[in-house]
Amino acid sequence: MARPLTATIDLNSIKRNYQYAKKLHPTCNAFAVIKSNAYGHGAVKVATYLDDEVDAFAVASIDEALVVRDAGVKSTIMLLEGVFEADEWAICQEKGFWAAIENQSQLDWLLESKAKIGKVFVKVDTGMHRLGLEPSLAPSFVEQLKESGLVDEVLLMTHFASADDLSDITTMEQLTRFEMVCRDVGDDIATSVANSSAIMKWSVPEGGWIRPGIMLYGISPFAGLTGLQLGLSPAMTLTTKVISVRKLREGDGVGYGLSYKATEDHQLATVAVGYGDGYPRHAQTGTPLKINGVPATLVGRVSMDMVTVKSSSDTHNLLIGQDVELWGNDVPVEEVADFSGTIGYELVARMTTRPRYVYKEGESES
Ligand SMILES: Cc1ncc(COP(=O)(O)O)c(C=O)c1O
Repeated sequence: MARPLTATIDLNSIKRNYQYAKKLHPTCNAFAVIKSNAYGHGAVKVATYLDDEVDAFAVASIDEALVVRDAGVKSTIMLLEGVFEADEWAICQEKGFWAAIENQSQLDWLLESKAKIGKVFVKVDTGMHRLGLEPSLAPSFVEQLKESGLVDEVLLMTHFASADDLSDITTMEQLTRFEMVCRDVGDDIATSVANSSAIMKWSVPEGGWIRPGIMLYGISPFAGLTGLQLGLSPAMTLTTKVISVRKLREGDGVGYGLSYKATEDHQLATVAVGYGDGYPRHAQTGTPLKINGVPATLVGRVSMDMVTVKSSSDTHNLLIGQDVELWGNDVPVEEVADFSGTIGYELVARMTTRPRYVYKEGESES
């Protein structure tokens, strides 16, 4: 038996989630955000499958865009962080990439390069203080871009700091600041503001471009809510098998540091997954999973290649070869993340190349 750890990616689920985002904002176009290797789901596979479906893709930087374009993907690709060097603008022209502009250098490089770009998104810092122009600079940036004749359409964009927290008024404050910038620039300018949490729970401006990321993969951006509860279809199922079984006696310790001690006699399964695969090393005793559909919990420390597991059912006879779901439709990745002190975004985005990746397109697999 080869090492059984498998990440099965349901490409159809990603398509359904994209269609759901668009249905929530029928007047908007939508970028499918596929940065960081499509949040660990495989950017080339995801982009190839969605190529005829999406209005455009969005990635962080030009190197991510080139990987997808060089694999034959035809759709427009937008660089959310813009260019990092002057000569990237010429590549943007050649490859049909759009880009954000969030600082003076990016603007100067474009004006000097004379590259022709379809759309440029002038990014305004409305309160997150990570990327983006001071709001008062936006009108001059827009004017210079329009006057340059290099850009077919100039848009305004911003990014929310706390849209995943529905009780936080920061999002409303950012929206108000953004509306003022739009008014200063001229009300007819198209915009792009919404990430997944804003798409699903906040009222965002009509028209323009939404930017769904995590929701495409069926994962919730909100604490305490799963993707399934939001009507999304989880795209990644991480499965493996039991590779060893033993009986523990009360008081026996398990794994590195013997951090788990059995408080009663029970069976213990050793399961083929570890932090070398991307499974979180900080997953605590109690982290949920399923063995042959029966709830079970992680016990002891996560090793590089293995974890140790106790069934939640006294009558469940653990056996080598039994199927294990680590996350997916039956075990929400958001719950695994909670037990690991992180978020669903991180768990999928940091998957390594070590598991086998299987892609499902409807019923077929590749
Ligand atoms: C500028 C920008 N837009 C959109 C997204 C997508 O966000 P989410 O994955 O929360 O939908 C991101 C992700 O970090 C981003 O940086």
